Amino acid sequence: MSQAIESILHETRLFPPSPEFAARANVSGMAAYQTLVDRAQADHAGFWLDMAHEHLTWHKPPTRALDESNAPFYKWFEDGEINVSHNCLDRHLDTQPDKLALIFEADDGKVTTITYRALYHRVCAFANALKAQGVKEGDRVLIYMPMSIEAVIAMQACARIAAIHSVVFGGFSAKSIQERVADAEANTIITADGQFRGGREIPLKKAVDEALAMGGCESVERVIVYRRTGSTVQWHEGRDLWWHDAIAGQPEECPPTFVSGEHPLFILYTSGSTGKPKGVQHSTGGYLLGAVTSMRWVFDLHPNDIFWCTADVGWVTGHSYVAYGPLALGATELIFEGIPTYPDAGRFWKMIQDHRVTIFYTAPTAIRSLIKAGTDLPRQYDLSSLRLLGTVGEPINPEAWMWYHTVVGQERCPIVDTWWQTETGCHMIAPLPGATPTKPGSCTLPLPGIAAAIVDETGHDVARGNGGFLVIKKPWPSMLRTLWRDPERYQATYFPNDFGGKTYLAGDGAQRDEDGYFWIMGRIDDVMNVAGHRLGSTEIESSLVANPLVAEAAVVSRPDDVTGEAVCAFVVLKAARPTDHAEAKRIADELRNWVTQQIGPIAKPKDFRFGDNLPKTRSGKIMRRLLRSIAKGEAITQDVTTLENPAILEQLTASAY
Ligand code: PRX
Repeated sequence: MSQAIESILHETRLFPPSPEFAARANVSGMAAYQTLVDRAQADHAGFWLDMAHEHLTWHKPPTRALDESNAPFYKWFEDGEINVSHNCLDRHLDTQPDKLALIFEADDGKVTTITYRALYHRVCAFANALKAQGVKEGDRVLIYMPMSIEAVIAMQACARIAAIHSVVFGGFSAKSIQERVADAEANTIITADGQFRGGREIPLKKAVDEALAMGGCESVERVIVYRRTGSTVQWHEGRDLWWHDAIAGQPEECPPTFVSGEHPLFILYTSGSTGKPKGVQHSTGGYLLGAVTSMRWVFDLHPNDIFWCTADVGWVTGHSYVAYGPLALGATELIFEGIPTYPDAGRFWKMIQDHRVTIFYTAPTAIRSLIKAGTDLPRQYDLSSLRLLGTVGEPINPEAWMWYHTVVGQERCPIVDTWWQTETGCHMIAPLPGATPTKPGSCTLPLPGIAAAIVDETGHDVARGNGGFLVIKKPWPSMLRTLWRDPERYQATYFPNDFGGKTYLAGDGAQRDEDGYFWIMGRIDDVMNVAGHRLGSTEIESSLVANPLVAEAAVVSRPDDVTGEAVCAFVVLKAARPTDHAEAKRIADELRNWVTQQIGPIAKPKDFRFGDNLPKTRSGKIMRRLLRSIAKGEAITQDVTTLENPAILEQLTASAY
């Protein structure tokens, strides 16, 4: 950690918002920010109750914000009654029915738009279709869809009838679907025949069929299939149903099911450091409030903005800032089916130009890959519509920040570097662009009502400038409520007794500088961050060990120019260690394909190293720190005297495949 602290402390550049930007911002100037912070500090629950009344439309407004009686199982707005889809659609029908809600650009460039009124009717029709199929309040619905208007409709329709959705990223494998269906006991799957990405057609329904054939998915009663690619799919009569047949004849009005503020809105699975993925469970009222306040504060949303968050609905960013937050505020947003480098690396810039995007939100990994593809490419497009840029998912290195600022933002647009997590539901630490002066590489200051701090192992605040554990000291409305059917793991992971049992442990290391700005230093556990997405080393190791060739495996990450971190696998084969390069390469490729099938391409190790054994302490623990040094190609300076078999270091350092 100390090295990271030193390097970031050299960053002294400061970028205050321009007076023009500040003048029209929702939160204008640091004094306005401080007023909100002070209000929340004086009365935490009261502040959030005011926000909930001000920003959400309740069927029955809550009388009380926070119930702490069963901490850390906090409850927010429990006696309020609300529906998320009602907030996203119905409340705009009188004021702006003809405003565009979604602008969808397909992989091939074809554009489809939909107004608020039309979206409302389509969500209602699909919600009625789900009801007609027997989907009820509280049922789990797994969504495995391409980026599309229909994906948003599927999520909104679930919210409308108070079914709990669990979206699985379209890049995940059949095995991942099977695990999530089994854990959530979903009775319905909504998918598509396939999707287009980068000019290629990728099947989706096939993965669902494979998942359901694996067993453990007996809860599934129906699979609804949206026809996207038109390719042939296998059909299971009695179980499978086309989307267009399901909605045929369904009324385009469907009264929303109002639920308690605490009703679960969705489960989203995310990697943990040990064992199976965690089913992060979010609420209805508190979650929506976080999405809405952060849209206003951090994205500074105004009525005529064209908002574009490039995240897929399979990630939390695509929940809060594609499916819910922008619609709740009545924004016009762009959604995109394809990838940033197809047909060429100018795609994002062309789309910003064509749709006159004003707010653009993406991940550092995308920025780095586009820098690599051509630093000058953005200059070939008219990016004058942009007024605000954002990043999320991992620390952005100051060089990439400066490029984003100068070349994309043309030194005109503030950058909001937003720190948050699947578990936090919405932005937690981020600049308010009309107030906070930014520093390249820092996510700056906590949002109003967010009690972020940095503490040592004993839970005590560390001195400014020292690194430590990033924690949130008070509950906040959009926090996860539990892990699906695993309250013990929720408590042990996020509210460990070492920190007093009521402080949320984020799992990231961080430090604060002399101005109180936060600098995130990365994960403190064995979770890797590849291309802005968390991957647990255990999951990848388990998948490797499940391959018949593999006896033992350990997975660590190393820095990578484009993806931030790359996965490196250290493998002991059941047969002899391959000494022939061609043979080693062939096995490495075979194992890469295996992990792709088991988990998905994102988890595929970049490097493979083979040894007769793994470096272990005498008590049998794998020396991960040592593996990290080898993966980075560093000289080994650590004490290796406790190593059981020093000779294997030579084998592991020799070559990567
Ligand atoms: O390590 C932090 C990193 O991403 C983790 C959360 O990952 P996930 O739940 O997949 O959600 C990603 C999108 C919200 C965090 O624990 N992270 C996220 N944003 C930032 C970040 N690291 C540094 N700076 C950020 N802005």
